[in-house]
Amino acid sequence: MNLFLFLILLLQILSMLFIVVISAIGIYFFFNSQFLSNPPPVPSSGKIKTKIIDDVASVLAKRKKQVVMDLGSGWGTLLLPLARKFPNHRFIGIEYGFIPCLVSKFRARKMKNITFYRQNFFNSNISKADIIFLFLWTRMMPKISKKCQSEAKEGTLLYVNRFPIPDMKAKREVSLGCKYDTYYIYEVQKRHLNKKTLSAKK
Ligand SMILES: C[S@@+](CC[C@H](N)C(=O)[O-])C[C@H]1O[C@@H](n2cnc3c(N)ncnc32)[C@H](O)[C@@H]1O
Repeated sequence: MNLFLFLILLLQILSMLFIVVISAIGIYFFFNSQFLSNPPPVPSSGKIKTKIIDDVASVLAKRKKQVVMDLGSGWGTLLLPLARKFPNHRFIGIEYGFIPCLVSKFRARKMKNITFYRQNFFNSNISKADIIFLFLWTRMMPKISKKCQSEAKEGTLLYVNRFPIPDMKAKREVSLGCKYDTYYIYEVQKRHLNKKTLSAKK
């Protein structure tokens, strides 16, 4: 009998916990007004994450004083390990979501070479970036492509996880098997900025 009562109590506690977790997730998305039109804070993960970090680390090891930006930095998954490894380079994360940005700031609290801003990246200044990370949605890619091609400097490298930029030709494509386990590297080249892109900007 005691065991039966214990199981009932346990079941009640578990269902209450479940309701609290589901409500917290619901409240988070409700207050994150951009949720419906923007990608959720799903971090880069697994082998693709390791591969991107290693790839960028090999570039940073050969260069001095680089500025690395992550537009939609989520929980700081890509920037934090690189910032730890390269104290002489500068890292900037732009994240709209309140909670992911707060968590990123907390994780970076003891580091001097990394800053997270809670901002819409379409309003951010990207002109000083040497390397930019993008892990967004297909439908956002044309708009972010225009921003990068017109505002980033010549030679800026774009590391794009999973969803390619439709109007740019990748310099390199790294695939770990399937389409969704692929990242693309683009280089901003101002001479490729055609009339169509410029008029779209206006
Ligand atoms: C798929 S996650 C990628 C996170 C991180 N870059 C990574 O690779 O682990 C995309 C992030 O972009 C953020 N985001 C989407 N649109 C944004 C915007 N306009 N301004 C700032 N952040 C945005 C979302 O809140 C989300 O956290």
